[in-house]
Amino acid sequence: MSVPASMVSSTASATRITNAPLSLGGVTLRNRLVSAPMERNYCEPNGHMNDVYQEYLLERARAGVALIMTEATYVRADGKGRTHQLGAHDDSCIPGLRRLADALHAEGALVGCELNHGGRTAQTAVSGLPNIAPSPVACEVAGGQVPREMTADEARELAAEYGRAAARCVEAGIDVLSIHAAHGYLIHQFMSPISNHRTDEFGDPVAFLNLVIDEVRAAAPTVTLGMRVSVVEGPDDGLDAETTLAIIERAHLNKLDFLDISAGSYEAGEWIVQSGEWKPGVLADYALRYRKFGLPLGLAGRLNSPEIIEQVLTDGVAEFVSLARALHADPLFATACLADAAEPVRYRPCIACNVCIDNLGDGPVGCTVNPAVGRGRVPVATPTVRPGTSVIVAGAGPAGLTAARELAQAGADVTIVDRGSRIGGNMELAAQMKSTPDFHRFLDWSEEENERLGIRVELGTTLTSEDVAEADPSAVVLATGGEPTPVSIPVAQGAEVMTVQQWLDRVPRVFPSACTVWGSDAVAMQIADYLADRGVEVLVVGADAQIAPESGRRAKILAVPRLEQNPHVRIRLSSTIAAVELGRVLVTGPGGEQDWLDAAGPVLLSQGVQPRVLSHLLPGVTAPVVGAGTLVMTAPATVRNSILSGYDVAQELAATLR
Ligand SMILES: Cc1cc2nc3c(=O)[nH]c(=O)nc-3n(C[C@H](O)[C@H](O)[C@H](O)COP(=O)(O)O)c2cc1C
Ligand code: SF4
Repeated sequence: MSVPASMVSSTASATRITNAPLSLGGVTLRNRLVSAPMERNYCEPNGHMNDVYQEYLLERARAGVALIMTEATYVRADGKGRTHQLGAHDDSCIPGLRRLADALHAEGALVGCELNHGGRTAQTAVSGLPNIAPSPVACEVAGGQVPREMTADEARELAAEYGRAAARCVEAGIDVLSIHAAHGYLIHQFMSPISNHRTDEFGDPVAFLNLVIDEVRAAAPTVTLGMRVSVVEGPDDGLDAETTLAIIERAHLNKLDFLDISAGSYEAGEWIVQSGEWKPGVLADYALRYRKFGLPLGLAGRLNSPEIIEQVLTDGVAEFVSLARALHADPLFATACLADAAEPVRYRPCIACNVCIDNLGDGPVGCTVNPAVGRGRVPVATPTVRPGTSVIVAGAGPAGLTAARELAQAGADVTIVDRGSRIGGNMELAAQMKSTPDFHRFLDWSEEENERLGIRVELGTTLTSEDVAEADPSAVVLATGGEPTPVSIPVAQGAEVMTVQQWLDRVPRVFPSACTVWGSDAVAMQIADYLADRGVEVLVVGADAQIAPESGRRAKILAVPRLEQNPHVRIRLSSTIAAVELGRVLVTGPGGEQDWLDAAGPVLLSQGVQPRVLSHLLPGVTAPVVGAGTLVMTAPATVRNSILSGYDVAQELAATLR
């Protein structure tokens, strides 16, 4: 199917490669933007597409994306890895895929499926079926179930299932198919020495892959067919760049129309969904080595701005870009990439927090900065408020900023007050940490949104009841943060004990030669990592049995090993501090045993926050007062939960102000 050139944004700049159509196999993409395959856990439990998911994808198509690659789509029921994953495993999946294809075509976009089987990562607890793999090697990260080694006949039969699934997709009107040979799923398992210990014909790392390519091509002779590749597997004993290239060299590439460059495996998730610490376009150099195969290339991996996208396309690294998180955070990202430089389009940037991928096993995939997605419903706009509505939002952290924006969009006249000298609250501090550098993007965007929506921001101001009486607003949103959890221990004279925030607020920030971090939450992890990175000797003492239990695996995938492997960092978990003296702290261990540890420098507290009592905060105020963020939250104090809280509170408040 070819998309008419007239469907390309009218403001598109003719000179930009991003906007240029691309022929791929038998289809033409209207531009170079592809929504990367991204499991979202939005389907029905039987693998069928549904209205909520279709609407989500349509929104990205309407924003200008050329090709929507849906997600890793299981070709057989025992290859299903998520409860609500998309399936193409039987004919009952065809009508839903057909409806999706028709709807996306009507918006001028093409649609694709990524053919997949989970192999050893597909756990019985999810699929309800035994799991099978090249060899009986468990994937601990996926759940640890030891798979049964499939016979050679079973391998051949399973390869044929890829072909049958491909035929169903084609029957449903799917334009593009991609064979998932990456990320530690079944085909990659056959390729890898970690998971393939076979001595039969399938011991050859390319054998199963080639069988799948042959089956799919035979079943779908004219479809545009590509393959996703992990340019490195990740673990030391896995496939490196050279060995992967050598395998791909022997693949039946003559039957393919493109390669989609990605990286990583379950054991090296940081390569699949990269941390904010890694540079944008981190896989570009690897992609260049695939140019020799002469196939059009797609590139994924932190392509998070229109500029970097145009750059990799101009540099000839790839013909199209596969975008996952940037489009999840905001479909308008596509519009921004296609817009004329003279009329830039503002989009809500992904902050690379990786909450989305961390949530994948738990339910519908949400997004920290986009609180409307992953809620199991088609997003509903915040109700328009009646003319003359005014709202004061106290607190310019993520909850307050979000509430203010929603209410201003709904038509309210909004003023934000904050006692700090900058917007952002603790998120501004988090943006200074090593593993969350992109957090500043949310704050920059919020600042621009405040301006666009005419939100007044009064910094260095603490809201009082008198201020409220004088302003006489329609409502007040309090988002000034929770109460730091109090600690009560003997502290010797001269010993310094303060919260992490207090230390970070110090001007100038002088780094001690050593310090103690008392806490094991994400803030403790971040500050320990930040200080250790600057050569500070760090002692971490925390009550939890693991570091940052409230964070998902990917959110801490680099920081925790870095701390654990740093000889200048000591970590005492399931422990607490019973007393602080100059140069030492008394630590109580898991069994109640106590010992004094050398601990020069300050003790920085990260003990979390508790909700405050809302009714105590603005006595005498008659306007409705609602709380948002950690001030009222009982959920863990994460940015994601704060933004969700601000969003939900604003929607509920707006509904009362109509
Ligand atoms: C929640 C989530 C689910 C993903 N699911 C898939 C998938 O189904 N198939 C796949 O090949 N890659 C998947 N990926 C990887 C993305 O396609 C992409 O390669 C990766 O996120 C890096 O690109 P980005 O920086 O644009 O997010 C997923 C990523 C995320 C964040
Ligand atoms: S959850 Fe975080 S990483 Fe994922 S898309 Fe949203 S902002 Fe980006």
